[in-house]
Parts: sequence; C-alpha cells; structure tokens
Amino acid sequence: MGKLSMKLCNFPLSKFREIFIINKMNIKPCNRLRNKALRVFFLMGAGLALFGQNIPKSLSMEKLIMQSYRPLVVAHRGFRSIAPENTLLAAQKGFDAGADMWELDVAASSDGVLVVLHDNTLSRTTDAKTRFPSRSPWTVYDFTLAELKSLDAGSWYAQTDPFMQIAVGRVKTSELASFKDIKIPTLREALELTKRLGWRVNIEIKDATGFACDAWIVERTAELIKELDMVPSVLISSFNHDYLKRMKKAIPEIAVAALIDKPLSDPIQILRDIGAVALNPNEKYLDGATVKALRSAGFGVLPWTVNDASRMKTLLNWGATGLITDFPDKALELVNKSF
Ligand code: G3P
Ligand code: MG
Repeated sequence: MGKLSMKLCNFPLSKFREIFIINKMNIKPCNRLRNKALRVFFLMGAGLALFGQNIPKSLSMEKLIMQSYRPLVVAHRGFRSIAPENTLLAAQKGFDAGADMWELDVAASSDGVLVVLHDNTLSRTTDAKTRFPSRSPWTVYDFTLAELKSLDAGSWYAQTDPFMQIAVGRVKTSELASFKDIKIPTLREALELTKRLGWRVNIEIKDATGFACDAWIVERTAELIKELDMVPSVLISSFNHDYLKRMKKAIPEIAVAALIDKPLSDPIQILRDIGAVALNPNEKYLDGATVKALRSAGFGVLPWTVNDASRMKTLLNWGATGLITDFPDKALELVNKSF
C-alpha cells in the first residue's frame, strides 16, 4: 500500500468529520453499511484535500479557525524571514509555501490611504531617513501616499539580514537584487493580491491613537473589505479592542481576534465582550490551562510569534488552533506530520 493510502486509512473518522464540518450529523454506530459508505466518502474527500490545498477554500474564517481538521499556519507579515516583511513579495512567498493565510499590519498615510506597514516609523524598513532627512522621526502617518510609494521598502532586508537567512544561504545573493525598491503596498493592493490567489488574510489594525486616522482607520478598512467582497476571507485583529468593537459594528459577521501582549486573568470575558472568535496572544504569556479553557469555551487561540519548532509542538499539544510564525514552512512541516 502506498504511503498516502496508508496515511488516509489511518486517518481517524473524527478528523474527516472536522474537515467536512459534519460534526452535527447523527452517525448511528449500528448502521455499519452507512458508516462504511461514509468512510469511503470521507476517504475520497480527504484524498482530494491532501492532494490539493488541504482546507476547502469556501470555508468562512470563523469556521476555518474553529473547525479546521488541523491547526492553521499564518505567515507573519508574509513569509518575512525570507522576504521583506509586509510586502506583496512576502505574501506571495507565504502562499507558495502553503500557509493558510498571511498576517499584515495596517496604518494610514497623511492623505487618508490605508497602507501596510508594521512600525509607527519608516526608519527600520525603508530608506526614508536618507530620502527625507529633515522629517525625523519619520512617522508613517505624516507621509502622503506618493511619498510612501517613493520609498525603497526592500533593500533594508539585504543590509540587515534580519533572520540570518542570507547568511545560511537560503536567500540567495542573486535574489537580493529583486528586493531593491520594492514598494510599501496599500491595503487595497494587499487585499487584491489575496483575493486573486483565493487566499485569506489576518488584517491587524495598528493602534493609531493620537493620529488623525484614529477616527476612521477601522471604518475605512471595513469599507474596503466589503467593496472587495472579502468578508469571509478576512480575520481582523488589533491590540486596540475598541477597534474590534467598531469593526463588529461596521460588519457584524466579520471574524475578529483580540491581540494580547500580557498575561490575562480572564481572556474569555474579554472575547465575549468583543464578540471575538479567537484570542491572538503573545506566545510567551500562554499556558496549557488557558488554551484548554479558551477551547472549551468555544474560542480559537492563535499565538504569535512562534518560530521555534519545539515551542510550536508544545503550543499545538496544548490545543492552539493555529500558529502565527515567521517560518510558515517549519510550522507546516510540523502540522502536516502530526495531523
Ligand atoms: O498579529 C500578530 C502579531 O503581528 C502582533 O504583533 O507587533 O508583530 O504586529 P506585531
Ligand atoms: Mg502584526
């Protein structure tokens, strides 16, 4: 028997139920014939799923998080260990690696356009310091879209080798030339790429408290998602939980996750207040009991940023529903081996 057929035969029925979201179906143990037929049906379906992209593309984000047959792998700021973070290239590399979705960070230009950037300032990931020497501290919110689009958001990667992937030879010197002058994407461009790929995205809305866009960053993000008809493909997260409440007001059916960067005594109550589907905690503050309690209460858990294989294993053993990682390839290898 081939390796794949062995894998399919050893696959427990409960997993097939999860893949096809049939856990509410009443499968009576006494009806052996029907069980057999169902097993064949599930085996065929699982075979297709294993040959293809594993998880049906039609699943809404909420179902994906809660009912996927295996934990999700989220490419943090795209596949940022091997390409400049939060760029379309990093997204494409995450998709090519087989990640279930990518995570990106949203800020806004001074003239009101949503853009994809992690830091409040442009100094780490662009050449803003040399291009606009008098604009210290190079706050992204103070630059127009035209100014942002004039920056080189790729060359810094070659200069700093942030994950030592050039040093170890994984990112080839020949490839580095193509990173030069990569542009900061707008959120529209990032979503259009995601849609074109038939993929999914976790949009993290940066806390813009104190900046003019604080008044509209959530609502404009919601408008764009609706305009592009992408509600089921999007997970919204933010450290600013008021933003999540505003998002639920703008689009009640959208999936949101609360980002947390500290130990919490009662995360479940926070999630209920927001109407969130998941907690996205800093992995270092997570423990097995909290994961168990969240899962029993019906919530997903997507810790970040998990790059170490043994930590990935621990979090998966605790029942994390996904991993947000700079190394989606490593996480995929693990989940595909274990589930
Ligand atoms: O969304 C997960 C993670 O990205 C949150 O932290 O600072 O990397 O945006 P940060
Ligand atoms: Mg983020």
